[in-house]
Amino acid sequence: MSRLWSDHVDGLLPYVPGEQPAQPQRLLKLNTNEHPYGPSPRALQAMRDAVNDDLRLYPDYDSSQLCQAIATLHGLRAEQILVGNGSDEVLAHAFNALFLRQGRPLLMPDISYSFYRTYCGLYRIPHKLLPLADDFTIRVEDYIGPHEVVPAGIIFANPNAPTGIALPLEAIAAIASANPDSAVVVDEAYVDFGADSAIALLREHENIAVIHTLSKSRALAGIRVGFIAGNAELIRGVQRVKDSFNSYPLDRVAQAGAMASILDETHFRWACRQVIDERESLAGALRDLGFEVLPSQANFLFARHPRYEGVVIHAALRERGVLVRHFSNPRIAQFLRITVGTPDDSRRLCDSLEAILNEWQQA
Ligand SMILES: Cc1ncc(COP(=O)(O)O)c(C=O)c1O
Repeated sequence: MSRLWSDHVDGLLPYVPGEQPAQPQRLLKLNTNEHPYGPSPRALQAMRDAVNDDLRLYPDYDSSQLCQAIATLHGLRAEQILVGNGSDEVLAHAFNALFLRQGRPLLMPDISYSFYRTYCGLYRIPHKLLPLADDFTIRVEDYIGPHEVVPAGIIFANPNAPTGIALPLEAIAAIASANPDSAVVVDEAYVDFGADSAIALLREHENIAVIHTLSKSRALAGIRVGFIAGNAELIRGVQRVKDSFNSYPLDRVAQAGAMASILDETHFRWACRQVIDERESLAGALRDLGFEVLPSQANFLFARHPRYEGVVIHAALRERGVLVRHFSNPRIAQFLRITVGTPDDSRRLCDSLEAILNEWQQA
C-alpha cells in the first residue's frame, strides 16, 4: 500500500496471465491457448499495407468498417457490434455498463475465466459464485432460479474456461428467458472450435450479449481485437462506457488486420479444423498415458492424472521446456490446462509426459 494510491487499489485482485517467455522459440508454449498456425495471410498483408504515412492520423474511433464486416458475417447490423482492444477490454466495459446494479449480485460459475472476479473487484460489483456440478458442467437450474434478488447479470464462458465444456443453446436460451431483467453475457472466446454460438439467440433474446475474440480461432492474439454483439440498445450502453474510457481502442493496423481476417473465411475454417482434429488425437494420447480428460469443445484440454498433483507435473514439464497452465484453485488444482498445438507439439508433450511418468513410477 502506498500513501499515494487511491483507497481501493490495495484491495484489487489483478489478473495474472500465463507466462510469456522472452525467448519462446526454445520452449513449447501450450499455456495461453494461442493458435499454433499463423493468422490469415491476407490479414498479414493488410497489416503490412496499413503501415504507411496515414499512421500520423488517428484511426476511425468506432472501427465502423470492421463492425460492419463482423455484423455481415453474423447476419447482424453494425450497431449491434462494438469492438475493443482484446475481448478483455470489451469484457471490462460490459461489466461496467451492465452489471453494476444497486445491491443486485452478478451470477457466475465458481470455476470460470478468472478475469471475471478481477473486474468485479475493480468495479466493486457484488457477485455470487455458483458451483459447477461434480462433472464440471454448469448447473443450468441454478441460473434459472427463482432467485431471492433479481441478479444484476449473469456471465459465463461457453465453452467454459478452463474446463472446455460447452452448454447447448437451449440451456442458454432458458437462462435468458428466466432472467429477462438481467443481462446474460456469454463469453465465446473458444466457440469456433466446435460449440454453437449464442449469436443465433440474439433475435429472440434482447438480454443476451455475446463476446468474441480474434486471439484464438483467428490467431491474432498479438493485435488485441475482440467484440461484443447484442441488441442495439444494450450495445449503446457499452459504447457509452467505452467512449468514457478510450476513444480509439483499435489502431489502424489492428483494424486492417482484423478486417482482412474476418473476410478470409477459407483460412479461418481450415485453421479451426486443424485444431479440432488435433484436439481429438491429443485427448486420446493423454488418456493412453492415464489422464482423465474432460470433453472439450475448445482449443485446449483440461486433464488430470489420478496419481500426481497438477502443480508437480506442471513443474516437471517446465523443466523439459514444455509450458502448460496450472491453476491453484483447490477444486481444480489437480488439473492441467493444455493448449492444442500441432501434431509435432502433441508428440513432444506426450513424449515428455511419458518420460516423467516412467521416471516417477520407477522411483
Ligand atoms: C474465456 C476467455 N475470455 C476472454 C479471453 C481474453 O481474450 P483476449 O483479450 O485475448 O481477446 C480469454 C483469454 O485467454 C479467455 O480465456
